[in-house]
Parts: sequence; C-alpha cells; structure tokens
Amino acid sequence: MRVAVLSDIHANLEALRAVLSDLGKGADTILNLGDLVGYNASPNECVDLVRDVGMHSIAGNHDQAACNPRLAAGFNIYAHRAVLWTREVLYGENTRFLASLSENSRFDFGLACHGTPESTTSYLGLHFQARALLKKMKNGSLGRGNVCLFGHTHKRKVWRMDVRGKVAPEEIPENGTIELLPEEFYLINPGSVGQPRSGDPRSSYLIFDTRENTVSFRLVEYDLAPTIGKIIAAGLPEFFAQRLVDGV
Ligand SMILES: [Fe+2]
Repeated sequence: MRVAVLSDIHANLEALRAVLSDLGKGADTILNLGDLVGYNASPNECVDLVRDVGMHSIAGNHDQAACNPRLAAGFNIYAHRAVLWTREVLYGENTRFLASLSENSRFDFGLACHGTPESTTSYLGLHFQARALLKKMKNGSLGRGNVCLFGHTHKRKVWRMDVRGKVAPEEIPENGTIELLPEEFYLINPGSVGQPRSGDPRSSYLIFDTRENTVSFRLVEYDLAPTIGKIIAAGLPEFFAQRLVDGV
C-alpha cells in the first residue's frame, strides 16, 4: 500500500493544492498528521478539502486549540492570535470535525501521531527523546509495527534504531528515498505542507510504500503570493508571511 503522509498543513490552501496535485493518483490513502489549521488564512478551505479528499486525519495541537482556546495558553503570542482568529472564522461543522479527531492512530506498519504518541504538544527533536520512544516500540508496549510517523516540528526527519539498539538520525538522500529494514525501528517526520521550517520554503511530504518498505520525501514548489496576500488581508501577523518566504 502506498500511503501519502502530510502534516502541518496550517490553513495554507495553495500549498495543500500543490501537494495534492504533485501526488496525483500516486497513493492508495492519504494520512494527515495534524495541525490542519493555525498560522495561515484558509482554515475552512483546508478543512473542506481534507474532508472532500477523505484523508485519514489525526489531531494536532493547533486543531485542538481552535476548538478550545484555553489549550493555547502556552502558545507564543503570534500563534495565540492566530488561534483566536481561526476560532472566529471556522464554520461550526469544521470545528466539530476538528474536535472529533483522535490524537493517534494504529496501523499494521506501526502508528501515527502529531507530537508523540502520548502528546500533541511534545516535540520529538532530541536524541534522548527519539531513543525513549524507539525503545518503547521495540519492547512492544506501543503495539505492533516498526514505524512511527510524527509531525509538529515542521522539519523532515528520520530516526533509526538498528538491531543493536543504537539510535541515529538518518541522512535524507538527494533523491529523497530511504529503504526501511523490517528488523529496525523508525520515527519519520514528513516535514510541513503549510509552514516548512527546514530552511526551504517548498512544501514537504512523503510517500510511504508499505510493501516495498521505502519512504520517499518530496518537496513541492508553490506560489506564495496568494497565501501571503490572504495573511495580510486577514490582519494576521506579517511574521507568518515572512517565515513562509524564509522556510523557517
Ligand atoms: Fe504545527
């Protein structure tokens, strides 16, 4: 099965459309790892499109905060402003859709979550964090499978635990494709569709071929001008537009 894995769409309709067009019919199913809204100015359009396409979606911390702004108390002041704006403009039906999402999902290959399997707000960025989660996967306490897909950091990443139990980040090659070994364990982040932070403004996603045991990272260019225009017109912080240009 070919699974397209998208994360952190963040109300960026132009980026989402560009990714779906790049994907074409290249996947059997599409998985959205959360943060469908927040930061950018097309929350309803993005929720509508994700629902129309029939993506398997899980909740991100911005999705949860848009339904319950008290959860945004720890957000930075710009992100907090975006949460309040998003809550204001979201149609009731779309708020209910976001509120219905679960925080993680299990599959034959392993599991999918936004931040970590236990938390939508925790970041999986450091070696000790990756090692702790991979150990849980290896000892079977998180169910079957050897792959955990995660988002939240907005950065493409692969952590690998080999048969000795050694954990290391895996270099993503030029062609974007990594082969997975059935005896190893992996944490894989596709990067962000709507607000990439790896220093490259292109939208990032991946295709996980569960039969071939490969993940292929893809970068997609899109026209930033309409997205930026909508951010400014909505009165959202200009900082959100600048970070799209810089890819940070
Ligand atoms: Fe996010």
